[in-house]
Amino acid sequence: MKTFLVTGGAGFIGSNYVRYMLNKHKDVRMVNLDKLTYAGNLDNLKDLKNNSRYKFIKGDICNEVLVNEIMPEVDVVVNFAAESHVDRSIGAPADFIKTDVFGTFVLLEAARRNNIERFIQISTDEVYGSIENGAFTETDPMMPSSPYSASKAGADRLAYSYFVTYDLPVQITRCSNNFGPYHYPEKLIPLFVTNAIEDKPLPIYGDGKNVRDWIYVEDHCEAIDFISSHGKLGEVYNIGGDNEKTNLEITEYILKKLEKPKSLMTFVKDRLGHDRRYALDCSKLHKLGWKPKFDFDEALDKTIKWYIENRWWWEKLKSGEYLEYYKKQYNLNP
Ligand code: NAD
Ligand code: TYD
Repeated sequence: MKTFLVTGGAGFIGSNYVRYMLNKHKDVRMVNLDKLTYAGNLDNLKDLKNNSRYKFIKGDICNEVLVNEIMPEVDVVVNFAAESHVDRSIGAPADFIKTDVFGTFVLLEAARRNNIERFIQISTDEVYGSIENGAFTETDPMMPSSPYSASKAGADRLAYSYFVTYDLPVQITRCSNNFGPYHYPEKLIPLFVTNAIEDKPLPIYGDGKNVRDWIYVEDHCEAIDFISSHGKLGEVYNIGGDNEKTNLEITEYILKKLEKPKSLMTFVKDRLGHDRRYALDCSKLHKLGWKPKFDFDEALDKTIKWYIENRWWWEKLKSGEYLEYYKKQYNLNP
């Protein structure tokens, strides 16, 4: 039995990854260390409460004492824990630097002292910054442009330095925009799907022509699993869905699927420093033998259906702090 320490396992991708791994491998134990910030939600893992191979620990990855206590029982670390929302990083960057950079440092140090078997740093395509044409390969320079992406770039390179300097068995993944169930409804797809369900405005930043590459979260989870068993140590792997879409295309698709009027589309002031386009060249991972399985339209339909059927999950998240934030930011009444 191998023990995985999954940090940030109560968030969107982390919770999908914990579930994916427990279903796929019968010889793994998943220890989920999560601080339960606004984005951490134990509802995401409700179905695993009685699973004997799953354990939850509430705690901060910046807490050296706690991390040092946990690490001796760990074989593999998968570090998802992060402050992850670009808009929040523009308003209040401090927690991004603390968690994304210092927290990663605490984990790397503890991992080094305990001779762990593998350390997977979940980085992001946003570390490359924006690209007008073409696509970034793993050796392209990083030009992060938000406090979020800059803090992720710091963590990404810090992890690499532990491979070079201390021989820590590190692997780094840089994935594009995920979508799927349990995605906090402040990000584009879950916000727009749930707003449309409730006949509320969909706030489109700027001209809506910014481009993102989208990947279904289960494909991302499978890719991480594949890289941890087939990838080389010390390497970076881009993970993309090969689905480039403008925000307008995504918005129109959601409205059409939910049979809602285009009048819900509301153009609002642009995000500061808004990256125009993200694009990844994933040939390195394709050559290694992994490609995404999910068709974009089918996966988005499945995701929309999940939000229709799971109002209990998102309705309570769309109140209080969230409402205040959006009202203040966009003078809207979502
Ligand atoms: P999320 O915001 O949904 O989840 C983050 C989780 O980390 C939450 O459960 C939160 O409680 C936890 N957390 C935050 N600070 C912590 C701390 N100090 N100690 C312990 N736990 C803490 O984020 P997500 O969308 O699931 O992203 C997970 C990871 O994947 C992040 O590292 C992010 O940078 C990366 N990533 C995300 C995407 C995407 O499209 N969402 C794409 C590529 C990479
Ligand atoms: P987001 O989901 O925040 O992911 P990221 O910024 O990390 O790519 O945003 C995706 C795109 O959608 C991005 O171009 C910003 C845009 N967007 C809006 O137009 N309106 C919104 O309310 C949100 C949250 C995002």
